[in-house]
Amino acid sequence: MLHGKRILLIVGGGIAAYKSLELIRLVQKAGGTVTPVLTRAGAEFVTPLSVSALAGAKVYTDLFDLTDEAEMGHIQLSRAADLLVVAPATADLMAKMAGGRADDLASTLLLATDKRVLVAPAMNVRMWTHPATQRNLAVLRDDGVLTVGPNEGDMACGEYGPGRMAEPAEIVAAIAAALGGGPLAGKHVIVTSGPTHEPIDPVRYIANRSSGAQGTAIAAALRDLGARVTFVTGPAVMPAPSGVTVVAVQTAHDMATAVAVALPADAAVMAAAVADWRVANATGQKMKKDGSGKAPVLEFAENPDILVTVSKGPGRPRLVVGFAAETDDVVAHATAKRLRKGCDWIVANDVSADTGIMGGTENAVTLISDAGSEVWPRMSKTEVARRLAARIAGALA
Ligand code: CTP
Repeated sequence: MLHGKRILLIVGGGIAAYKSLELIRLVQKAGGTVTPVLTRAGAEFVTPLSVSALAGAKVYTDLFDLTDEAEMGHIQLSRAADLLVVAPATADLMAKMAGGRADDLASTLLLATDKRVLVAPAMNVRMWTHPATQRNLAVLRDDGVLTVGPNEGDMACGEYGPGRMAEPAEIVAAIAAALGGGPLAGKHVIVTSGPTHEPIDPVRYIANRSSGAQGTAIAAALRDLGARVTFVTGPAVMPAPSGVTVVAVQTAHDMATAVAVALPADAAVMAAAVADWRVANATGQKMKKDGSGKAPVLEFAENPDILVTVSKGPGRPRLVVGFAAETDDVVAHATAKRLRKGCDWIVANDVSADTGIMGGTENAVTLISDAGSEVWPRMSKTEVARRLAARIAGALA
């Protein structure tokens, strides 16, 4: 199940640390290898010797251990693995991760990695349900961190409730899912996202208010279901998610080319707010005031419609999903747009200024397909993305 997979296992401090020994054994039994990292607190619960003996590998503990750095720098250590697993993940470790701290080896590896991270929280029930921990959890999930557990039950501290670390076998299953065992495993999905910038001259451009938040969340949700995602993004505010192939572009033209290069795909989700027009008389030098008081006149040329090209062109993905940004008669316009553009589904949203949707964290969408239109309640863009990804998985099954 984990044949040839390399797991960097960070063992945090907590009574559940003893279960990480069993976890090491099960990962190895499933064909994977484990590079163990013990936090200072973790080493209070399990000894470096027992961890390294079981893993059959050196255990890393200290960021400033020069021998470790000489053998393998922390950046390399954080990237040589296929997946980072934090088990047990304490409240403190989760807070550090959510805050982007890097003050010891474990937190530095977690910040420096370009790989997915799976955390198995384990803590006292009050600590788990505390708003601060729940807030940190929400931040981590939004960052694309995967979680397994905690489970409910009797705790070592004598209390009962959620907080027990997931069982090692559950963690191994979650590792397998994170490494490509999800419903979209083996599927390639292209996602376009963000605005485009259409140059006027070398220092000026025409853009729009898209932050890229919805497209970014969709790419992350598809990735979480196991898809291989090519994320073609304009200059967005939101950073691209980890674990996807990022193709950064500026203009609609670049975006069209990048999408053509990324084909074939099983599905395409066109969430980008592509500029319909580019400046035909853009200049290679900065436009100067000539003192005459005469305003420059910009001429426009129509950009290629990427959604139409993909929907009606050769090598059409099985499922093509467009977006419709409308400010009035949302469903009527979006329904007509679906037919005109030839895509299977349209995710329609009202981007009128008073909705706060463009550039905001929430979205209220209507999913339009040949089966009609389905109004979704207002929810976070992350949740819209999760639902849409689940639908896509259903359609491609
Ligand atoms: N789109 C695209 N290429 C373009 C313009 C739009 O791929 N040159 C895609 C968007 O990514 C989105 C869908 O088409 O999935 C609809 O975008 P939208 O801006 O709502 O529509 P427009 O094509 O601009 O149509 P209109 O001007 O009529 O609103």
